[in-house]
Amino acid sequence: MRPELAARLGENVPRYTSYPTAPHFHPAIDAAVCREWLQALEGGDEISLYLHIPYCDKLCWFCACHTKQTRHYEPVTTYLRSLHAEIATVASLVGGKGRVRAVHFGGGSPTMLRPEDMVALGTALRDSFDFLPDAKISVEIEPNDMDEARLDALAEIGMTRASLGVQDFDPKVQKAINREQSFLQTKAVVDGVRSRGVESVNLDLLYGLPHQTRESVCSTVAQALILEPDRMALFGYAHVPWFKKHQTMIDEAWLPNSAERFAQSQIAADLMLKAGYQAVGFDHFARPSDALAVAARTGTLHRNFQGYTEDRCQTLIGLGPSSISQFRQGYAQNMPATAEYGRMVEDGGLAAVRGIALSDDDRVRGWIIERVDVRFRLLGRRSGRTLR
Ligand SMILES: C[S@@+](CC[C@H](N)C(=O)[O-])C[C@H]1O[C@@H](n2cnc3c(N)ncnc32)[C@H](O)[C@@H]1O
Ligand code: SF4
Repeated sequence: MRPELAARLGENVPRYTSYPTAPHFHPAIDAAVCREWLQALEGGDEISLYLHIPYCDKLCWFCACHTKQTRHYEPVTTYLRSLHAEIATVASLVGGKGRVRAVHFGGGSPTMLRPEDMVALGTALRDSFDFLPDAKISVEIEPNDMDEARLDALAEIGMTRASLGVQDFDPKVQKAINREQSFLQTKAVVDGVRSRGVESVNLDLLYGLPHQTRESVCSTVAQALILEPDRMALFGYAHVPWFKKHQTMIDEAWLPNSAERFAQSQIAADLMLKAGYQAVGFDHFARPSDALAVAARTGTLHRNFQGYTEDRCQTLIGLGPSSISQFRQGYAQNMPATAEYGRMVEDGGLAAVRGIALSDDDRVRGWIIERVDVRFRLLGRRSGRTLR
């Protein structure tokens, strides 16, 4: 590829998961507005719930997620009290209207929760909201956190999709990103969730990490394929040290340049396609029988704050600090600081501090952007990059 084109492709651009994007949110959309939007839900609405766990017991240097390291469990216990309070308040405002189609536990690391705390959250949700019988429950899993008790707890809350962070299997890369995770540990978790009947396994892989080469990326993809995931996400490493201080632990001299990043993404994608996976959007690959691949082929794929999804819910309720909710009327984001979030929700309050009401013009632009993101074209149906 021409170097100037590679450099252009390597520029930072908005990662559209909504339109307007979060930098356009403003403080006029607050708890009072969010309260009205929750109360305006209708009986036939389907709801997708997102729960954010803003803690990890160890920080990976590459991470750009909204999380904080804690070596002690007390802050997590305090946080969970707040999260339960928010669940109760939101559920009372929804007032039994709408049914839950999907739940996503993200973070941070939901799997750093003690098993009894995972079960208590799952129970609180089912006691507070009306669930569809085939509701999908997905959980972001940090394989190093996992043990038998946590695997059992996730099965008990009805997890249907396990999404494991892998990033890269090369020990040199892992050391540079402070994320040591053996293939065998990852395999044990995949086997553990499958033996408990979990129907779908996703693996997150990254390119553009320190010390990654085309060869090391190929080797990681080859090992990932041995685990026969139903889906894989292939993200480009976002190096944003001005926003995430711990990324300064990564020496920029170790990072591949734009042309190398592009080559790594292409070689990884080719391997997945050759192995029979279908490309979904610009960063996912799925077995042709997986719901995401089916949605891509049938023109029902969507994109929301969690990325590509087959879930068609128009209402997404985000719980926890920094979480974003999506309503017909607009978007509302919770206070990002965990302690402040806790103070806002503890007495039956909501934690929305910014957002945006959608105009018809926003809706049209949002529809166009989503269409291009999921089909790479505006009109007609895209048949999906193919498979052998
Ligand atoms: C909330 S995180 C991970 C969940 C879990 N804590 C774990 O580490 O496995 C979800 C995914 O975001 C991706 N991610 C995190 N930081 C990133 C960055 N700087 N650039 C690109 N992707 C990133 C990783 O692939 C990660 O698995
Ligand atoms: S990648 Fe996962 S485990 Fe690592 S710091 Fe980020 S959220 Fe925590």
